[in-house]
Amino acid sequence: MHLAAFVEGVNHTTVWRDPRAGDQMAFSSFRHAARTAERGLFDFFFLGQGLRMREQRGELFELDIAGRPDSFALLAALSEVTDRIGLAATVNTTFYEPAELARAFGTLDHLSGGRAAWNMVTSSDAFTGANFRRGGYLPYADRYVRAREVLSACRALWERAPASTAPAEYAGRYVDVRGRPAIPPSPQGQPILIQAGDSSGGRDFGVSVADVIFSRHSGLDEGIAFRRDIDARAVAAGRAPESVLVLPIARIVLGDTARDAAERAREIGFAQIGPERALAFAEQVWGRDLHGWDPDGPLPDIGPDVRDAPVMQGRVQSKADPRATVASWRALAERDGHTLRSLMVEIYAKPTFVGSPEEVATTMAERFRAGACDGYVLSTHLMPSGLDDVVADVVPLLQEAGLFRTGYEGGTLRDLLFPRVS
Ligand SMILES: Cc1cc2nc3c(=O)[nH]c(=O)nc-3n(C[C@H](O)[C@H](O)[C@H](O)COP(=O)(O)O)c2cc1C
Repeated sequence: MHLAAFVEGVNHTTVWRDPRAGDQMAFSSFRHAARTAERGLFDFFFLGQGLRMREQRGELFELDIAGRPDSFALLAALSEVTDRIGLAATVNTTFYEPAELARAFGTLDHLSGGRAAWNMVTSSDAFTGANFRRGGYLPYADRYVRAREVLSACRALWERAPASTAPAEYAGRYVDVRGRPAIPPSPQGQPILIQAGDSSGGRDFGVSVADVIFSRHSGLDEGIAFRRDIDARAVAAGRAPESVLVLPIARIVLGDTARDAAERAREIGFAQIGPERALAFAEQVWGRDLHGWDPDGPLPDIGPDVRDAPVMQGRVQSKADPRATVASWRALAERDGHTLRSLMVEIYAKPTFVGSPEEVATTMAERFRAGACDGYVLSTHLMPSGLDDVVADVVPLLQEAGLFRTGYEGGTLRDLLFPRVS
């Protein structure tokens, strides 16, 4: 099994206002989280990317905070206080140039002794782009065209020894590079590539280039279905399915007993989705201003306004029909007796594994053995200490079950993800 620790970029998971949370800009917060993951022998430590604070109706999101340090600077610093764990940065392919990216990832790969990874994301919305002068210049359908070109251009630079006679060259529709790279090839050849797009185009891009596919499909049946789809696409793309690791995002809430853990999960969910946040989520589906509705009362008894443009900026929009979504939410609320807010907690803040360490390790192992995934990328509501208990209490159980490494082997991240069988 492979495990990674995820510090989300744009998210409603991290509750920085929790009194036990650290400072979101302090290096010590990230050092604690990365060292915990390394103590747990995780494969990599993974930073999300939020290029702009999210807004809804001109106001900042309730849990969005100013405090998203640049990943390259942060991971370079973390490479000095960790030895073996991989260091992964989420970086958008739409808004940066390949020469910048090849140099930044090549540098990180050198500084860390071959531990760098790049999660290539493609958000192309005009709201994010407004921060980059070009606005929404890239048609939605072309974001993976550009991503492929950016990667091809980076590879041309990474593969080229600086002393070689010919310059690296790549010419595409969206990007061109020509020149000798300013840094030599890295200790692991190239950084590990991670891909998390869920659309058909995203999955095809993932199977054609990625070492790791990061998904939202952490359940048993959905995980198996996703893995099968990825395997079929990999074969069609000429890749061996085992050369593509599938790691779904997961959140773990532990307690001494199943009951304690369920109670903790409920408290965390309500901390993640406050009253305003619950209304903000509902507004995205209703397409209406819901100020004035009681989040702790029943669902609004009006239908969604399907004409309204999406109201949330800075996040990939759901393409589902809002009428169908509202109908399914009403049915769920009626069945389980939800208020609007408790329903939003159920939908947007439900942890993947809740229980005692034994229960959680057993369920993780079952899904892994059933072929639903190759491991998990673990996210937590509490930075920087949210994974301390997982490392102390769950990892040893996975090791006892023979599912997880008991020591680091090999020098690079590629060695950790794809150990050579001797
Ligand atoms: C678990 C998960 C975490 C993600 N984190 C980020 C992130 O931090 N920053 C970002 O810009 N995109 C992030 N994404 C977005 C995707 O990588 C992708 O760019 C987006 O879903 C659009 O691609 P698609 O239309 O092919 O799904 C994440 C996706 C997943 C599944």
